[in-house]
Amino acid sequence: MSALDAAAPYRATPGGAAGLLLAAAPYAMAALRRIAPIAGRGRFWIVTRYDDVLEVFAADQAFGVPYPANLDIITDRQPFFLGMADTPEYGAQLKRWRSLIRADDLAALGEAAEARAATIVAAAGGRVDVVDLVRRVAFALYSDFFGVPDPAPGRLAIWGSRLFEFQFTGSPDDDAWVAEARTIAAALRDHIDRVIAARRAGPARDDILGRALAAGYDATEIRTVLLCMIVGGPPQPPMVVPNAVEQLLRRADWLAAAAAAAQANDDARLHDILIEAMRFDPLAPGLKRTARADYRLAQGTPRATTIPAGSTVITAFASAMRDPRRVPEPERFDPDRLPRDFVHFGHGLHECFGRMLNHATLHRTIKPLLARNPRRAAGAEGRLRKAGAFADRLVVTCD
Ligand code: HEM
Repeated sequence: MSALDAAAPYRATPGGAAGLLLAAAPYAMAALRRIAPIAGRGRFWIVTRYDDVLEVFAADQAFGVPYPANLDIITDRQPFFLGMADTPEYGAQLKRWRSLIRADDLAALGEAAEARAATIVAAAGGRVDVVDLVRRVAFALYSDFFGVPDPAPGRLAIWGSRLFEFQFTGSPDDDAWVAEARTIAAALRDHIDRVIAARRAGPARDDILGRALAAGYDATEIRTVLLCMIVGGPPQPPMVVPNAVEQLLRRADWLAAAAAAAQANDDARLHDILIEAMRFDPLAPGLKRTARADYRLAQGTPRATTIPAGSTVITAFASAMRDPRRVPEPERFDPDRLPRDFVHFGHGLHECFGRMLNHATLHRTIKPLLARNPRRAAGAEGRLRKAGAFADRLVVTCD
């Protein structure tokens, strides 16, 4: 079977060793925060305290992103700001694309997310796989917003998720994986080229592609950025929202509070409950950085440590959000926390481009389900299952 016909969104399968390691990560991180907050040896380091995590993210001149090798395979060596250092090119590209997002897009995206989710939940007959629900909503939403239609029903979700998995967990030395990524990425690039050509020849439409064409952006850059947005954006809500629902299912009082907020259309309260639930099982334990030069981290504290040039550093932002030195009573579920307690979307130079879109949409994506009082389905399928780092299945029944 060709990589293009893959039926599953990820190569990782449930029950693998990676899943077990990831499940143990919060306990290991809690121990490291106390005993060895800047832990490592030679060329591998892990940083677990809030202050140090933010310092590594902020010191982007010393700690670069490790993304270019895989990104080059996906974009066919075209530049995209996620892979760049803080150069004028980074700033110029980011500014070009940020300027295409308008303030009223946020409310419209929130409404669209809720409407799409409501349609799916209404058709589901009282039984919903939360992962599938969030994936379908996220891909439909961003396919429409960016102006990249599905090449065939469900294809964008599989191709986007597979490329996301390769970008953030794949090795550029794994020949079979690289070959698969190349095949899918080439097909997606061709698809986007055809979409751009058809748009030029057809009627205008007010989406990000339409705005980029109207602004006269370079065609290769348009293709590259739309590709990277599809690969980097919609695969993420189905990673974190099901995790958050699992956390709510473990806390009957907060599940009831979320359902009440959904039923009362109290979107602000629902947002705060969801973002807090995400803190207990966020996107990943950490993000990688590569030290470009020797760097003295936590200078002036007893734990100050020099991280040598060339090191890989795991910046454990999940651990930062559980660090009692900065996050008050981190084990308590508290939707009234200050924004500074959350590092869900990174920090500093590479902070999530979609951050405001997420704040407008994540809670709206799950609102119609929460409004129907979800309960765990019987048996194993009623508990969140992961494939590696990725939420894979969580079935609930609802009114
Ligand atoms: C639950 C949803 C999401 C989460 C948890 C999330 C998280 C993150 C994080 C942690 C980073 C920083 C990466 C790093 O520093 O190495 C990031 C960057 C980024 N995100 Fe998101 N993201 C989400 C959704 C989105 C969406 C929907 C889009 C686009 C529509 C998007 C586009 C990007 C881009 C382009 C970057 C790179 C920014 C840069 O390099 O300046 N993300 N995201």
